[in-house]
Amino acid sequence: MSAPIVAVAGVTKSFHVPGTLPWKPGRFVKAVQGVDFAIHPGEIVALVGQSGSGKTTLARIVLGLEEPTTGTVHLDGERWDHVPEERRRARRAQYQYVPQDALQALDPQQTVLEHLVETLTVLAGLARRDAASRAIDQLASLGLDHRAHALPRQLSGGEQRRVTLARVLALAPRLVVADEPTSGLDRDRRNAVLEALLANLAPGAACILVTHDMDVARTACHRALTMLSGRIIEEVDLRRESPVHPYGELLFAPWDHALPKAPLGAEGCPFVANCRLAEPALAPTCRSLAPALRAVDPPSAHRVACHAYPSRKGS
Ligand SMILES: Nc1ncnc2c1ncn2[C@@H]1O[C@H](COP(=O)(O)OP(=O)(O)OP(=O)(O)O)[C@@H](O)[C@H]1O
Ligand code: SF4
Ligand SMILES: [Mg+2]
Repeated sequence: MSAPIVAVAGVTKSFHVPGTLPWKPGRFVKAVQGVDFAIHPGEIVALVGQSGSGKTTLARIVLGLEEPTTGTVHLDGERWDHVPEERRRARRAQYQYVPQDALQALDPQQTVLEHLVETLTVLAGLARRDAASRAIDQLASLGLDHRAHALPRQLSGGEQRRVTLARVLALAPRLVVADEPTSGLDRDRRNAVLEALLANLAPGAACILVTHDMDVARTACHRALTMLSGRIIEEVDLRRESPVHPYGELLFAPWDHALPKAPLGAEGCPFVANCRLAEPALAPTCRSLAPALRAVDPPSAHRVACHAYPSRKGS
């Protein structure tokens, strides 16, 4: 297999939250804990989990937009936080983020075309004329050429999303991290945005798709990384295998249901209070020790973080 575009090892992130009153002590929020994964050229990987599970924080750490508290991120074999600032800037165009809030990411005073031209001149170093020509081609391929002179507030929600995608895809990056690119859209718009993203990725590019939409993870992605309370609790190719972690089973269940809340920063498994597998003999271990992510059935890439595996396999 080719070398990974992204390699994340032992990443944690704690945020300090000040006390609500001057004499109240602050506290640390453990948003990401002990995360390891790799993504290879051409892979589309879903990052899923309920609100607050750490998806955006991890996505931003991957791209160097947020410093991890511990751990390392390598992009194309280079430790990203060790790359000198000047070279980092030069390579910025190759690793791109599509933020969760499309409207906020757009400049209200700039037209759609100006957004793309500015990105291509600043990040790809193109002359304005070349940038304008590439921008128009990119807008056409996302069905946005007729909106080139519109301002962000004149666009629909789906169009705003497609503009943030067009701006990134025009750079033909090696890695796109798209944070909830389809949230809040109806089914047709969701499909249009998703198709636009996947059809316009450069050959060999990798994509991390942060999503709450399990259909997207199931149908559009090679693998899903499931987060719970800042940890990755399962890595599974949903086209071939079903989730086996009890939380993953619930998250991907096809019927409507509420997901139990799980505490951030728990010492042991964050799912222990709701887990049907944590029978009396196992529960003390589950409460005190966070399970590591381990292969379910080598050489399959399916990994699960659960003390009930691998002994439960085949039961
Ligand atoms: N800058 C920050 N300061 C303090 N806490 C933060 C900060 N950013 C994120 N957090 C906390 O870290 C945890 C993870 O947040 P994050 O935004 O990564 O979750 P998420 O999975 O992306 O959620 P959502 O699905 O709602 O977008 C949350 O408890 C959040 O409140
Ligand atoms: S580690 Fe324990 S509590 Fe967590 S999912 Fe597995 S059996 Fe359940
Ligand atoms: Mg988020």
